[in-house]
Amino acid sequence: MSESNKPRLRAFETAPHQKHIADEDRYLYKSGQASHKLVVIGTGTIGQEHMRVAALLGRGKIHGIFDTSTRSMDVAEENFRKISADPLIRYNDLESACMDPAVDAILICTPNFTHFEVLQTALKSEKPIFLEKPMATELGEAAKIVEIAENYKSFIQIGLQYRYKAQYAEALHEVLSRNTLGEVKTVSMSEYRPPFLDKVKQWNKFNEFSGGTLVEKCCHYFDLINLMADSKPIRVYASGGQASNFLDLEIDGRKSDIDDHAFVVIDYENEVRANFTLNMFCADFSEELIVTGNNGRILASEKSNFQQQGPHEATLQVELGEQGASRSSQVGYPRLVEQSGHHGATFYEHIVLMDRLENKRGEGATPLQGLWAMIVASAAQESVVSKQAVEIDEFVDRHQLSSLAR
Ligand SMILES: NC(=O)c1ccc[n+]([C@@H]2O[C@H](COP(=O)([O-])OP(=O)(O)OC[C@H]3O[C@@H](n4cnc5c(N)ncnc54)[C@H](O)[C@@H]3O)[C@@H](O)[C@H]2O)c1
Repeated sequence: MSESNKPRLRAFETAPHQKHIADEDRYLYKSGQASHKLVVIGTGTIGQEHMRVAALLGRGKIHGIFDTSTRSMDVAEENFRKISADPLIRYNDLESACMDPAVDAILICTPNFTHFEVLQTALKSEKPIFLEKPMATELGEAAKIVEIAENYKSFIQIGLQYRYKAQYAEALHEVLSRNTLGEVKTVSMSEYRPPFLDKVKQWNKFNEFSGGTLVEKCCHYFDLINLMADSKPIRVYASGGQASNFLDLEIDGRKSDIDDHAFVVIDYENEVRANFTLNMFCADFSEELIVTGNNGRILASEKSNFQQQGPHEATLQVELGEQGASRSSQVGYPRLVEQSGHHGATFYEHIVLMDRLENKRGEGATPLQGLWAMIVASAAQESVVSKQAVEIDEFVDRHQLSSLAR
């Protein structure tokens, strides 16, 4: 059995009653051999998730961290100490973090409005780069990242990891690999959730710093919808606004201006029609994706029992009528993997990242896919303001993206 295929019993790796099994006797619960040294830039919510996931997966080692906030580094280090005894370098500046010759890959986990600037320093290293979503706050910068990636010595992977959530990974497999639904005709996606969480300096409460709600959060959903539709969006219409959240939040004389609900309709070149619903003033988290083709329908859903702190539930329903076998099932990953962040999606995103560092197959989300998710999101935001449908060809020309997004 190869190392990567053996059924690792992770729960026993740290179990107190199994600590008497010495390292030389460990097989099923032996930790992986960490061969890649990673540096995390920005050690807030997602930076720490990447540190946790890397430690759990064990193929990469968190070599060092850098954050402009000492408090964020202190907390990240304190939390890291609970899961790893490995040494951790705290860099004094971005340049030394990126240029350290010992580092094999750079993970950029800073707020959206800093991505482009931080990336410029990271690029000088010519090392593999993982860049959190959305790749930028503006389409012009996102397009430049696509161009840069095409000529970059190494790779740039974008943090659009919802495609690895159990229910979406299964749904994508059914639709794109098994062709279960025949020709896809409609895609419908929704997210109902509580307001945006607190962030360092509350950057996600302002369009200027986040790129806007539909770019900041919903690029994940537009990426999934684009994958399912498997075609180019040609028209986007959206209605939305700020109805309930952060209406009284004002920082340095600036009022929060982010949308908290929206309805988006997308037409694709291959005549697939899609819609997306967002509501961010709910008590709990739930997501649903419904894809319908000429053979049937798939429903992938996730409900988080956030208020009761109960386990989250992900399900996949395949409804084929007389066209084939229907089924309804719970889907998920091992609990430790799910608990490491985003119900396991980040863990599987790291597997792809590690595979790429080892020159194996797989590419994760590409900068071009990140750009297309941003094109749909930005067009939707424009439509919310103009109250008109946005023709994507015209939109792409206006933003001088034609050479990339055709
Ligand atoms: N893929 C996902 O599911 C997912 C989930 C959450 C956040 N994100 C993305 O990750 C990024 C960070 O989000 P977060 O929730 O961790 O925010 P956060 O506010 O919790 O953390 C951001 C950290 O970056 C630090 N920082 C700010 N500017 C910096 C700079 N120039 N150099 C170094 N550090 C800097 C801040 O001090 C803070 O500690 C955002 O782009 C966000 O959209 C992705």
